[in-house]
Amino acid sequence: MTNSRNVAELEIEDIEGVGPTTARKMKEAGISSVMELATAVPEELSSDLGGSKETAATFIMAAQKLLRESGVLDNEFTTADIELEKRKSLLRCSTGAKALDELLLGGIETQAITEFYGEFGSGKSQICHTLCVTSQQPAEEGGLGAGVILIDTEGTFRPERVDQIARARGFDSDETLKGIAICKAYNSSHLELIVKSMGKYIEDFKAKMIIIDSIISLHRAEFAGRGTLADRQQRLNGIMHKLVRIAEIYNVAIVVTNQVQSTPDTFFGDPTKPAGGNVIGHASTYRIYLRKAGGDRIAKIIDSPYHPYEDVRITVNEKGIDDIAEDSPKKKSAKDKDSD
Ligand SMILES: Nc1ncnc2c1ncn2[C@@H]1O[C@H](COP(=O)(O)OP(=O)(O)OP(=O)(O)O)[C@@H](O)[C@H]1O
Ligand SMILES: [Mg+2]
Repeated sequence: MTNSRNVAELEIEDIEGVGPTTARKMKEAGISSVMELATAVPEELSSDLGGSKETAATFIMAAQKLLRESGVLDNEFTTADIELEKRKSLLRCSTGAKALDELLLGGIETQAITEFYGEFGSGKSQICHTLCVTSQQPAEEGGLGAGVILIDTEGTFRPERVDQIARARGFDSDETLKGIAICKAYNSSHLELIVKSMGKYIEDFKAKMIIIDSIISLHRAEFAGRGTLADRQQRLNGIMHKLVRIAEIYNVAIVVTNQVQSTPDTFFGDPTKPAGGNVIGHASTYRIYLRKAGGDRIAKIIDSPYHPYEDVRITVNEKGIDDIAEDSPKKKSAKDKDSD
């Protein structure tokens, strides 16, 4: 886990097998710290350095080894009791709705990727806006007490909405807005570049919450034909792989939104499934499916290693994502969802 004092003292040149020339090449490629090298993807690094993938992988592993020896990263093998202790120290961030926090057993976790998928208007971007506010609150109040990085690939981020949510929740709107670093990604290569430099941004903005809304839209639009699907998947895989490492090494929460694709051959159940195939699903620690239900939303957790398989009803209002009002006639179990 991150220990900033130790990390700051480590230089790329301290890594086994990295001489001045390699260090210079890495810096030219935008890798300026041991942390960044430890989270690099071998395919990318080898093309940056002009060497083989194996050599690149050796450098990355050497960087991870140095981080372990410095106590920044945990050892490769731990015992289950230590792992449980580590999980207890995970930070959790409120989503703004208690029901959804409970579904997530306490909120959105650091060291994990949480994916929200659903059709248009299902509330994915509303969750992102709300997290921009809640994650900045101190830990005692359910936040992560740190900055937010929001990567907007669809041009749907609205500071006015953050302002509204912050005010409705009784928080200082100016301070909240100042704590959000926004980056608009214009094409898939741009998004890949941003993710590649994420380590530096996390340190610059002291962020604990990274939001990508959405992870798929740019790649989906640019790699449209069947023939380019394998290429698209490979590039998405690179992004997701990198994000997994970033979440763990920097102890940050990563939230991504995903679209749905329809599966017309489904005869029973919901004919929609998340876009992006296995690549996004495998890398995401938690997947939450959002669905419109009248004026409300139903959130359902899919394929979690330890969460109960259930769903909850939430709503969208001036506070962003919120619980259904106690006195509302709609305050009923999500199991009744089909009645509306
Ligand atoms: N201030 C508000 N008060 C109440 N509801 C709101 C408010 N702002 C937005 N909404 C609701 O949120 C919906 C939009 O949801 P959102 O933008 O999160 O969809 P999305 O899942 O991101 O969809 P897309 O796939 O198009 O990006 C609106 O249709 C509206 O129902
Ligand atoms: Mg959206």
